[in-house]
Amino acid sequence: MTVIVCPKCSRRHRVDTSKITQNRRQLVRCKVCDHRFPIHVAQKMAAEPAQPEAIEKRRNARKIAVSLSKGGVGKTTTSVNLSAGLALAGYKVLLVDTDTQGQSSFMLGKKPQAGLTELLTGELTAEEAIVSARTNLSILGGGRSLAGVKRIIDKKSFGSEWTLTEAMEGLDNKFDFIIIDTSPGWDQLTVNVLFYATEVLTPVALEVMSLHGLAEFTKNLHAIQKYKPINLNYVLPTFLDTRIDQPQNINRKLKSLYGDKVCQPIRYDEQLTRAPAHGKTIFEFVPDGNGAADYEALVRTIVKDNTIFGAMPTKGGTVIPSL
Ligand SMILES: Nc1ncnc2c1ncn2[C@@H]1O[C@H](COP(=O)(O)OP(=O)(O)O)[C@@H](O)[C@H]1O
Ligand SMILES: [Mg+2]
Repeated sequence: MTVIVCPKCSRRHRVDTSKITQNRRQLVRCKVCDHRFPIHVAQKMAAEPAQPEAIEKRRNARKIAVSLSKGGVGKTTTSVNLSAGLALAGYKVLLVDTDTQGQSSFMLGKKPQAGLTELLTGELTAEEAIVSARTNLSILGGGRSLAGVKRIIDKKSFGSEWTLTEAMEGLDNKFDFIIIDTSPGWDQLTVNVLFYATEVLTPVALEVMSLHGLAEFTKNLHAIQKYKPINLNYVLPTFLDTRIDQPQNINRKLKSLYGDKVCQPIRYDEQLTRAPAHGKTIFEFVPDGNGAADYEALVRTIVKDNTIFGAMPTKGGTVIPSL
């Protein structure tokens, strides 16, 4: 339906657009004052505002923090390869690097000149601070210095936990997934990330000490859950060495504690260590190796949950097409 206004009596008429002949001038008659006047199909189009939803599907990003206080467990490796895998599957992904050394960006062969710091200081808008890394994959790098970010957060007299959330406002409907890589430890920036994200994925290196680290981390997470909803949805065992028993025993222990939150493990794979030096994801570096297969399985697990957590597929893709 469209609306045509009579130029004589100004009455508005709702008209069925299918009855208007395309690309032709047409004479119509006002039912109220009987005035006859010409319309052109261009007029019809102008009268019908485009529905933004029809042009671009509205997105509602799932915001997943890849987090655990312990370092060296595979957080950055997971953030990068998970983001790359989701992007290959056709989802629009933003990878946010909140680690101090810009490792995620480095792994993708990028060195963004600006990023989170400039976004938080207000020097740049989100659109200006975000850089494209691959098809469907963008990065928001750490920027000049994440130490500066921590100072900005500390300076706030109240509501400092929401600093990142405020800065990221408006990005939810531009991406299907926002994956946030975090630094080890527990500081104001980690708290900000967990106030922003709604889900947590925790990589756990299959060694005894990691179980303690996980218990400690979940305790801290419970403290945040008092203020806002955030769920530990995925526990990802990493560095699985199938040749020895101990990691498999720890994996069983993890399953007994965390049930079906425990994902299929990422095996120990040398190539995952080598790929970053080439600025490549594992899907680009050794697409037919164990690392790529294991991270593809993780992508499938996370995408499968879209019906529960509500992200929209960009192209209806659910699997990595190249694999
Ligand atoms: N599954 C794996 N197999 C072998 N090496 C891995 C694996 N996952 C990560 N690594 C390597 O282990 C080191 C630490 O991983 P990283 O992702 O940087 O951990 P974090 O971000 O938690 O500190 C890196 O050198 C990385 O290349
Ligand atoms: Mg890291």
